[in-house]
Amino acid sequence: MKKIKVGIVGTGYTVGIANNHVNGYLACKTDCELVALYDIVPGRAAQWAKEKNLSVKICDTFDALLDEVDAVSVCTPNYAHVPLVIRALERGKHVLCEKPLSTSAAICEDAVRLANCTDRVKMIGFS
Ligand SMILES: NC(=O)c1ccc[n+]([C@@H]2O[C@H](COP(=O)([O-])OP(=O)(O)OC[C@H]3O[C@@H](n4cnc5c(N)ncnc54)[C@H](O)[C@@H]3O)[C@@H](O)[C@H]2O)c1
Repeated sequence: MKKIKVGIVGTGYTVGIANNHVNGYLACKTDCELVALYDIVPGRAAQWAKEKNLSVKICDTFDALLDEVDAVSVCTPNYAHVPLVIRALERGKHVLCEKPLSTSAAICEDAVRLANCTDRVKMIGFS
């Protein structure tokens, strides 16, 4: 079976929920493979990958990450979710976005409209 290639955007420095995502993906090694990371702060994703001994591509832009993956975990702060989710859906990717989707219902509407028009898997991480 072809493994789903996954990327994480927003590797973190406070709670670092991306830690939970990477642990989940590593626990599903037969189904998926974490292949790429992107964080807006230069060097942060590379440092995070080094600390975790991950052999993944460190991308300079979100679009470069999307070039590498089938699915993306959005682990950025809430205000940054919707533009990233929309871009990922536009590029035909499956999306797991951390809660909440955004900071207001109005901002969510475009993302929800687009999500409803694709056959990709979309999920908000409410765990
Ligand atoms: N499900 C849960 O139980 C749970 C728990 C904690 C946090 N969260 C959610 O997870 C998300 C992240 O929280 P955190 O505490 O891990 O945050 P964090 O601040 O530790 O990490 C966010 C990372 O995103 C990066 N970033 C910011 N804007 C970006 C952008 N446009 N592109 C790429 N990278 C960007 C930052 O540089 C930072 O490294 C939030 O939405 C939060 O609500 C969920």
